[in-house]
Amino acid sequence: MSSAPAVIELDAIAQDFPQPDGSIVRVVDPLTLRLEGPSIVMLLGPSGCGKSTVMRMMGGVRPFGVASPTSGGVRIDGVPCTGHHDDAVMVFQRYANRPDLTVRQNVSLPFTLALWKARVPPEERTRRVDEMLEAVGLADKADLRPAQLSGGQNQRVALARALALRPRILLMDEPFGALDAQTRDGMQSLLVKLIADNPCLVVFVTHDVSEAIRLGDRVIVLSTGPARVADDFTVPRGPDRARSPDALALEQRILNKLHGTGGQVRVSL
Ligand SMILES: Nc1ncnc2c1ncn2[C@@H]1O[C@H](COP(=O)(O)OP(=O)(O)OP(=O)(O)O)[C@@H](O)[C@H]1O
Ligand SMILES: [Mg+2]
Repeated sequence: MSSAPAVIELDAIAQDFPQPDGSIVRVVDPLTLRLEGPSIVMLLGPSGCGKSTVMRMMGGVRPFGVASPTSGGVRIDGVPCTGHHDDAVMVFQRYANRPDLTVRQNVSLPFTLALWKARVPPEERTRRVDEMLEAVGLADKADLRPAQLSGGQNQRVALARALALRPRILLMDEPFGALDAQTRDGMQSLLVKLIADNPCLVVFVTHDVSEAIRLGDRVIVLSTGPARVADDFTVPRGPDRARSPDALALEQRILNKLHGTGGQVRVSL
């Protein structure tokens, strides 16, 4: 596995979806983007605009029964990506923990796959799982099962599982969307810290403007019907960027842009 920062290129990708009445709807219009790691890139846009569709293409995950993308291409590190990419690891809103396994077994699960067995030697696997359980504050819950955990703790299990792989590309689709404000705040701080320790290319989908500014190095605003790049912002880094005058001005700019797209967005300051 390469240790160089990952580069994802979307080259004029478009996506059409057939509708039950036989018509075709264009969800993503020719969209061209270049995302470079290490950085956190936020994809922001109204519900239903096509964020998940675009993000899934980046990891080479194809919707069932539909050609994707309809036209254009995805390249990872300059190589056309036509199926699931081994360096791309995904975290979803529904944290997808196995109910029958303990926390430790859930975090270790990818290491039962041939790909990760081959990439990471056994003693290193155990070390990383221990390290991640510690980092997400679940070392004392390692033997519990998902039903015995809160939503936030379950999402920490999912985060630990993804980061134990030290992925070059981490694709996160509204991973904190189901959490209450306080838990989400804690998870955002944890993510920033964990990514600072393990820099990679993170693509993070959200429809929360504050979350985008707090986490992102770059915020790409998508328009809706079909998805296009409405704007592309670089977020200035600072100690408490979410509340700096610069961040507030940026937030207002993004909100204006989003209102221009006609969709609903959430703001939580
Ligand atoms: N496999 C599919 N077949 C048909 N239509 C689809 C398919 N997948 C997505 N769509 C449609 O494409 C549009 C964009 O969906 P997508 O899930 O990418 O939006 P989103 O921006 O992630 O929304 P949300 O913020 O609600 O998660 C929606 O109108 C959805 O119904
Ligand atoms: Mg989505």
